[in-house]
This record gives sequence, C-alpha cells and structure tokens, in this order.
Amino acid sequence: METNRNTADNKPNQDSLRKHIREIKERHKLPSPPVIVTKVMNMLKDPNFNVRELSRVISDDLSLASRALSMSRSPRYAQRFQPQTVHESILVLGLQTLRNIVIASAAESFLTRKNLRKNLISETLWVHSLAAALAARIIAKRLRYADPELAFLAGLLHDVGEMVLFNSDPRGFEKAIEDVRQSKQSIIKKEAELYGFDHAAVGVALLDFWNIDEEINEAVLIHHRGADNSAGTLASIIDMADYLCVHADLGFFGEFPDPGREMLSACGCADEESLPPLVQELRDAFDQETLLFREA
Ligand SMILES: [Fe+2]
Ligand SMILES: [Fe+2]
Repeated sequence: METNRNTADNKPNQDSLRKHIREIKERHKLPSPPVIVTKVMNMLKDPNFNVRELSRVISDDLSLASRALSMSRSPRYAQRFQPQTVHESILVLGLQTLRNIVIASAAESFLTRKNLRKNLISETLWVHSLAAALAARIIAKRLRYADPELAFLAGLLHDVGEMVLFNSDPRGFEKAIEDVRQSKQSIIKKEAELYGFDHAAVGVALLDFWNIDEEINEAVLIHHRGADNSAGTLASIIDMADYLCVHADLGFFGEFPDPGREMLSACGCADEESLPPLVQELRDAFDQETLLFREA
C-alpha cells in the first residue's frame, strides 16, 4: 500500500497522472461524454455565458429539465412561489447545483445504460455506486464537510472505472471479480495485474475525458488508500462510504475497505455498537431513493 497522504502538499503527482491518463486512453476505448454534459460544462466555463441560453439547453433535455424543476420545488429550497420554468428553477438552484444535477444524470445514464450488458456485475455496480453516493453524503453531513453534494458525486463516480473495465472485457472482468471474492485478494492488485491499471486510475481517465471535476478526480484516484488518506478529506469520505456499503450489504464489489481508526472516530464509529445506526441510516436512504426511481 502506498503511504502518501492526500494532504495539500502531497497530492497525486500531476505529471505521472497525466501520463497514466494518456496511456489508459490509448488502451481502452473510453465512451464520449453525453453531449449535454460537454455543452453545459463549456457554458459554465465561458465568462460571457448567460442564464437564458443555459436554460434553453437544459429545456431541450426533458429528463434534466424535469429534475431541475422538481428539485427547485422541493421543500429544501422553501420557495413562496414554485418555479414554473427551467429558467426560474436555475435561479433558485444556482449554477453549482445545476452542474451537479448534470453530472449525476450523466453518471446514472453511463452506469445504467440500456444497451449495456445487463448482468449481476452491472446491476451490482449500480447499486454500489448509488449506495456509496448516499453514504458519502451522510458522512459528509456528519463531518460538516463543506460540500456534501460534491461528496455525493464522488461516491457516485468512485468506481466508474469498473464499468469501463467490464465493458472492455466482460468475461475476463467477471472472472476477476469471482477470483477476488473467493481468494479475498485485493481487486486493485488483480486489475493492475490483468489490465496494467486499476479501476481507480481508469475511472480518473474517464472523468478527465468527460471534464468532470479535478477535486473528484484526485479523490477517486486514491480512494483505495484507506487509512493513509487523512480523515475528513474527500478520499477518506469515499473510503468510509465503501466501508458502510459493505456493512449494509449494498453492492459489495470485491473491496475490503478500511477507513482507519481516525476516520471511524471522526464519524462517531470508534466502537462496534456505534456502527449499526449509521448503517441503518444508509439502508433507509437507499430504500427511499430506489422508491423514487420506481415511482419515476
Ligand atoms: Fe473502488
Ligand atoms: Fe467502491
């Protein structure tokens, strides 16, 4: 295990990361980002962008438009008059939340694509990603982390590299998961042996290609360092989210996370009795979320 801590002065080496990303892009056929993601991200980076134009782009995407509207009407934003148009809903939500909605919906469509091979691996990966996102949000709130929604996105995307590996080698990857389960070997080591890179590095290459978010990329890259990630960082939140998923039996994916004592006590789980309520909170959040999907 690497011993680097992801403190401000010891972030992943950017040069070697760039080199890895280039190599992964050459080796794996990474899927292009959804057009809407590219459009919205480019607009938000443009200093001359205007909200009306952004509203038009969002309105053209039915599912995004209805997400933005229903979120802006939720009690969380407590509006006296409910937004009636996408433009009004963007004004209520703000650009950061809108960006998060766009990324979350792209992640969801990539992880649940209809044309993807549906099997136990892809279904388990979706359950795990959604559960990790919800767990990361719960933990972030518990820790008073500055941006719980960023933690939600990082949780949702942390294992996206698994889907890339599975898509490029379905049989081989399925067998690797099975081997790891039986031998209790580390999935990270197995992937590196088989494909040259593990799912954390492959995931970052995809997120970089999709131009998602630097902070998420860094956390995804080191999310298997467990106790070596400083407690309270985004990477440690993902480690803890993985740990809760294993205990809640929500999409165990051949990972044996260990967030370390420091992070466990920061989350109020220093002893065994304090873990079950947090696990239950995750199960309840997951049931609630999947109920919404069924109603949609
Ligand atoms: Fe992972
Ligand atoms: Fe995971």
